Order: sequence, then C-alpha cells, then structure tokens
Amino acid sequence: MAQGRFITFEGIDGCGKTTQLRILAARLREAGREVVETVEPGGTETGRQIRKILLDPANTAIHPRTELLLYFASRAQNVEEVIRPALAAGHLVLCDRFTDSTLAYQGYGRGLSAGIVHDLDRVACQGLKPDCTVLIDIDIETSMARAKKRNQRTGPEESRIDEEGSEFHSNVRRGYLEIAAADSPRFLVIDGRAPVATVAERVWEALAAHV
Ligand code: TMP
Repeated sequence: MAQGRFITFEGIDGCGKTTQLRILAARLREAGREVVETVEPGGTETGRQIRKILLDPANTAIHPRTELLLYFASRAQNVEEVIRPALAAGHLVLCDRFTDSTLAYQGYGRGLSAGIVHDLDRVACQGLKPDCTVLIDIDIETSMARAKKRNQRTGPEESRIDEEGSEFHSNVRRGYLEIAAADSPRFLVIDGRAPVATVAERVWEALAAHV
C-alpha cells in the first residue's frame, strides 16, 4: 500500500499556521486527496487532556523537564493512534506543530539541551520524521499582539506559554530560524506578515512539489 506524506506546520504563537493548515487541507481535499489534520499537543483524547495541563495558566509550578515530557507524551500517543495509521493507509497527514516546536520552545526558549529533545524524540516518535515542514515566520511584535488578541477573544485557558515575555519568544523565533537553516531541504520558510490569502498562495506553490 502507498505510504502517505507527513507535513508539519511550525512557527511562533500567532504566526497563522493553524489558519494556513486548514486552508491547505480544504484545498487538497477539493483536489481529491485524503487528508488527516492533527495537532500537537492534542490530536487524541489522551493528548487533549495533556494539552489542558500544559496550557492552563494556573499551572505555574510545572518544571521545564515536566513540560518537556508532557509534550512528548502527547506526541507519542498521536504518532501511534493517528499519524502512523494514516500514513500507512496512504493519507496525507498535516500536523499543527511537532518536534521542531519542542526544539524551539523547550530547547531555545527554556534552555534545555537539544540532545535531550532528540533522545526523547527517538522514544516518542520511533523514527518518524516530517517529510516537509512549513515554517511561518513573523516578528515578535506581531506575534505577541496576535496572541493577546486571541486570548481576549477565547479566554485565557490556553495562555500559559504565550504569556511568556518577549525575550522567550525572541529565543523561540531565533531557534526556529536556526533549525530551518540547519535542515533546509526539509523546510519551507514563508513570511507570515502578508494577508492570509497571499500566505496561503505561497504555501500552496511551495508545497506543490511535495504533495
Ligand atoms: P498552539 O497554540 O499553536 O496549539 O500551541 C500550543 C502552545 O504550546 C504554544 O505556545 C507552543 C507550545 N508548545 C511547546 O512549547 N512545545 C511543543 O512541543 C509544542 C508542540 C507546543
């Protein structure tokens, strides 16, 4: 049976990757592709429970290593329950964040070593790597303004990480750009400051060769 393709979307908070993932999924379905959308953390019932713990701003005592393990716990479940079966069935899997998020946020943001992230990735993902990663890049000011707006709209239940200061988010953004530069064949880096439809067109054109 045909092996599917695994495409991940990455970027700092408020970059617009979730909107772009949904637009791409709809367009691919219109073109007749079987598409599975998933998200990290979350994507399974177990993952959704872990997501609540991770993003609840009331959980101020979570240690960076606990945070790291919880992100990978959610991912391990998603890989087993959703992603691998969908790929084995020949589907295209679009995942909103994956291990590059952990490298950027827990590595560059929290200061944990990349070695630990790679070790846990081997345990949680059992060798599964994205075929292609779309990194939507925006500046920190736009990121923080959009995240604030979103939290005002949806409430603060998921704001524990995006309430971190601008230095944290600057480190995460720098992390993403370094990760992408070090693995450039896998990454498509797209400027996320343009209007949604323009970014969507760029994502579509850039991904044409991969899907
Ligand atoms: P989301 O709002 O894009 O769904 O992401 C949830 C938050 O979790 C976001 O602030 C980024 C953060 N995050 C990490 O810190 N590490 C990770 O491994 C993942 C997947 C997300």
